[in-house]
Amino acid sequence: TDATATATAFGEEQEALVLSAWNAMKGDAASLALKFFLRIFEIAPGAKQMFPFLRDAGDAPLENHPKLKTHAVVVFVMACESATQLRNTGDVKVREAALKRLGATHVKAGVADAHFEVVKTALLDTIRDAVPDMWTPEMKAAWEEAYDQLAAAIKEEMKNAA
Ligand code: HEM
Repeated sequence: TDATATATAFGEEQEALVLSAWNAMKGDAASLALKFFLRIFEIAPGAKQMFPFLRDAGDAPLENHPKLKTHAVVVFVMACESATQLRNTGDVKVREAALKRLGATHVKAGVADAHFEVVKTALLDTIRDAVPDMWTPEMKAAWEEAYDQLAAAIKEEMKNAA
């Protein structure tokens, strides 16, 4: 990556920004998770086709799918863990077995690079709306970095699984 983009190393400040937003949001995780997912499908309606439990759901309201919320909360939590690892080691290491499975799951579901961008935008929008008083360019940058590194680790494993 180019040097200007990484000029601000991921440090205590960045980790603190990610964790402070998450601490403010986690009590409300279920409803935030739903908003997060609705936002994904607003940006990319076709993404619904990738989720088997939605594909088979007909016109049933999305909010009735517990699995949907689980995925969203997992993305939030893993982005937080990613922030902590970035601060500690400068690198994201999801446990190897978990990462292998994640690679295989996402390849099988037909997830492409563009979907990771959609999910990133939806994630950032959700946080911005959830903690408007905390939201700053620095906080946005910290979440972006944590998410990008995590997504890169999953995409790398997807290449191996493909
Ligand atoms: C499944 C995490 C991005 C679509 C899963 C699972 C996890 C996970 C933990 C459960 C299955 C397993 O452990 O193998 C993440 C993380 C992401 C991410 C951390 C980003 C950093 C995406 C994106 C899409 C997506 C961009 C597409 C829009 C799916 C689908 C499943 C899945 C379709 C399978 C659901 C099912 O069949 O029940 N993901 N995911 N994920 N993910 Fe993701």
